[in-house]
Amino acid sequence: MGEHEPILVEGLVKVYGKTRAVDGLDLVVAKGSVVAVLGPNGAGKTTLIRILATLAKPTGGRAMVAGYDVASHPAQVRRNIGIAGQSESIDEYLTGRQNLVMVGELSRLPRSEAKLRAATLLGRFELNDAADRPTKTYSGGMRRKLDLAASMITQPEVLFLDEPTTGLDPRARMGMWQLIRELGDAGTTILLTTQYLDEADQLAHNIAVVDSGKVIAWGSPDQLKTQVGGAVLEVTLPATADTEVAAALLRGAISKSVTVDQRRHKLTLPTTEETGLVTKVIRALDAGDIPVDDVTVRRPALDDVFMTLTGHGAETDKEAAA
Ligand SMILES: Nc1ncnc2c1ncn2[C@@H]1O[C@H](COP(=O)(O)OP(=O)(O)OP(=O)(O)O)[C@@H](O)[C@H]1O
Ligand SMILES: [Mg+2]
Repeated sequence: MGEHEPILVEGLVKVYGKTRAVDGLDLVVAKGSVVAVLGPNGAGKTTLIRILATLAKPTGGRAMVAGYDVASHPAQVRRNIGIAGQSESIDEYLTGRQNLVMVGELSRLPRSEAKLRAATLLGRFELNDAADRPTKTYSGGMRRKLDLAASMITQPEVLFLDEPTTGLDPRARMGMWQLIRELGDAGTTILLTTQYLDEADQLAHNIAVVDSGKVIAWGSPDQLKTQVGGAVLEVTLPATADTEVAAALLRGAISKSVTVDQRRHKLTLPTTEETGLVTKVIRALDAGDIPVDDVTVRRPALDDVFMTLTGHGAETDKEAAA
């Protein structure tokens, strides 16, 4: 094979009965990049990944992975990819370490190399203490980590991760982010799904926002956030404080665009590139003898993205139906 896009999707369709799970989806992923597919429940994220990993057949359109058509050359595709989310491949009676070595050997790694890689990954996922226990004794989070480790035992050309941090504790989540970055830096092309804008923001070079089986927005995290609007600074005053006086003070000292929520005693300011905004706000209010209860920076969330892009929130299928 010559040069090829690691992932190329054109007009992809997957129909389940009356549901168009994927509905004319286009996507091109450049080599070595990390792309996050961001979307609400039922958007078609898992279906897309399953098709790209040859676990489901497309109804229409075309998908090429690692230079091969997923429909006509599934075996070649499989040889070049890793996918997390197949815990069924984990043997309950083997230890975590044995499982990883087995997966490595099935992927044609020499045994010594499989062992080395297994040891590294067990350490990275903080599974050292449990490494030599049968996996049937593992907690849900530990299984999840082992499953992710198994998908990374070789360094595949393309790695698919379906909600890689769901079910992980905050520390494991950070560890997972770090690993994904390292794999990306080492040249692996990664397509991951997430429901969290902050996660996509942390990891992805580009984000595909998916709704009802289609890509409704594409761009770098910064480009998307610019579309949605940046973060805002929220100042909460005690009930006794005069919000209008405080707002006038901030408008004079910092920014004309201060909005007031009288009922909740909150002032909201757009954040800017300049640093020290929080300090300036607190100093200005303090100088005016206005006490402050709380200051928070609220970043745009998935729901803000959806509100802006589609005019509806990122509600689930069930909520929408209800
Ligand atoms: N095997 C299947 N049979 C029938 N319908 C399916 C099947 N798999 C998915 N669907 C439907 O296709 C749509 C997309 O599902 P999919 O699992 O791809 O969404 P998702 O974006 O991964 O959602 P989530 O965030 O909840 O994981 C949903 O309406 C779902 O009910
Ligand atoms: Mg899913």
